Amino acid sequence: MTQQEALIRALPKVELHLHIEGTLEPEMMFELARRNGVKLPYDSVEAVRKAYDFSNLQSFLDLYYAGAGVLITEQDFYDLTWAYLKRCQADNVVHTEIFFDPQTHTERGIAFETVLAGIRRALDDGRAQLRISSRLIMSFLRHLSEEDGFRTLEMARPHLDRIDGVGLDSSEVGHPPSKFARLFAECKALGLPRVAHAGEEGPPEYVWEALDLLDVCRIDHGVRALEDGKLVERLAETRMPLTVCPFSNVKLRVFDKLSDHTLRVLLQKGLCATVNSDDPAYFGGYVQDNYLGCARELGLSGGEILQLVKNGFEASWLEEGERGWWMGECDIIAEKFGV
Ligand code: ADE
Ligand code: ZN
Repeated sequence: MTQQEALIRALPKVELHLHIEGTLEPEMMFELARRNGVKLPYDSVEAVRKAYDFSNLQSFLDLYYAGAGVLITEQDFYDLTWAYLKRCQADNVVHTEIFFDPQTHTERGIAFETVLAGIRRALDDGRAQLRISSRLIMSFLRHLSEEDGFRTLEMARPHLDRIDGVGLDSSEVGHPPSKFARLFAECKALGLPRVAHAGEEGPPEYVWEALDLLDVCRIDHGVRALEDGKLVERLAETRMPLTVCPFSNVKLRVFDKLSDHTLRVLLQKGLCATVNSDDPAYFGGYVQDNYLGCARELGLSGGEILQLVKNGFEASWLEEGERGWWMGECDIIAEKFGV
């Protein structure tokens, strides 16, 4: 094991960009399909994995929404979330802020409460039994209308004590943040922190809109911000976090290969870049795998690894005291590695 690899494994980590529906491994997809009597268009786990050869974001989303069709009962959502949390435990992920996409399920006739209850119960058990803290972010699907988003917010209204913030995801190009300005203003009025996917496939203008019209506190992805020097300055000055997902960017062809990824450039420009997995069951690895892959392919130094991990804590919604404590822990561990 290289020193960098040992350092990555030893450091406590957070994850800030993870779609819980994107943790549905093919094995669980088959198990839930069997349990719920759902017919899948594949005859084996291998056939499912073979289909994960994407040409862009949309080609992935088509499979991702189809796969989510096996999730029916509260226990299904619990099992999905619990399996992810066990993986966090194995990878030394101590805090995670996960997205769920209620519209993916309510559109199929699954009750909002069923989805929320299953995920929430697993997160509560994760806190109690695995000592993993978490936040839950309700993400709106941007290919649907703003009115549909408002209807979803109404479903969520009685449960806002169990939802920590809102996000915006799905097909980016053609669905700019401005489409959701009124919905996000309402979420702001309700006191919900906001994040949005922007600058994944979409242009830097979408990142500006997320900042200025949606008043977000993090940008999900944001890698295309590098095309706009003024935007980079704004992001650096405000330490606006970017939740970067390297494996995702390669699988969805934002970059040809991991060694082309601009993660290190983002750091060098003083941006609060963080490392995340997005949809690990579809993209070939969980957050620790993303760190390990980037360290190997980009030749990250120990100092850069430490910075990325600490950026994650800085960008998290943990209480300030907890954030500082974990960052101190990171420094102590890194020092043992001579970093
Ligand atoms: N939903 C799940 N993964 C996503 C991604 N990478 N971009 C947009 N929407 C998503
Ligand atoms: Zn995402």
